[in-house]
Amino acid sequence: MQIVTSVVELREIVNRWRKDGERIAFVPTMGNLHAGHIKLVQSAKSSSDRSVVSIFVNPTQFGQGEDYATYPRTEQEDFLKLEATGSDLVFLPSVAEMYPDDALTVISVKGLSDLHCGEFRPGHFNGVATVVCKLLNLVQPDTAFFGQKDFQQLAIIRKMVQDLNIPVAIESVETMRESNGLAMSSRNGYLSSEELNIAPKLYRTLCDARHKILAKEKPYTAIENESVEILHTSGFQVDYFRICRSNDLLAANPSDNHLVVLAAAKLGRTRLIDNITVNLTTV
Ligand code: PAF
Repeated sequence: MQIVTSVVELREIVNRWRKDGERIAFVPTMGNLHAGHIKLVQSAKSSSDRSVVSIFVNPTQFGQGEDYATYPRTEQEDFLKLEATGSDLVFLPSVAEMYPDDALTVISVKGLSDLHCGEFRPGHFNGVATVVCKLLNLVQPDTAFFGQKDFQQLAIIRKMVQDLNIPVAIESVETMRESNGLAMSSRNGYLSSEELNIAPKLYRTLCDARHKILAKEKPYTAIENESVEILHTSGFQVDYFRICRSNDLLAANPSDNHLVVLAAAKLGRTRLIDNITVNLTTV
């Protein structure tokens, strides 16, 4: 497994692979790899001739007062995990390599980036879209893999790729969960043991909301309000809990069939996000 820190070297290697007719799959990450990331990497590996993983804690997607400085950086452990998956290359750029001082361009997927997490983390999705666009331009993969836990991020990346005609197929991979249902996330490491007992309640509340939607007995706003109340009583500070259309992430109507329930809530200083999809065509 090659570990590459410069754009020039990365380009040389992927150009060589491309000339040899090899297909490239890519998984962008911020490191601190857990089983969810490894599932993405394994999916990438099995889909292509070559697999590239980036590890870059992207400063532009963190707001003021967020956890950029304390975000877990565990490169040596990450390398061992990636080596075990048979990944071909890890791209580990510095901030200066990704953002030269004279860089002026920001990618913004308007509208979609202002909803939900965008309301609570202004500018976050511009940071995500810009870095993902740059990484896709650098690696020029045939396929790139993202987790479904970050449902809004995935929607924004798909739209960016479509709008900018970036020649890559975006694949999504199901959220990996602990046995108690908690979605795997690098930020789970911030949770105290007491908070770790409460955290699975977020997914349980999403599952309950799905049952209520499928039962078709209550208006969606009632289900949302009940869910917020349950989470609040359990100790969460809820940013949002919303029943949306899965295609555009706007509020769902009773006539919509493909839904996603999106939730973000804080436990102490840790912000957790999760979601569940609901298909009403089969009921
Ligand atoms: O999901 C993440 O880990 C990050 O947002 C990503 C896609 C690697 C961009 O920094």
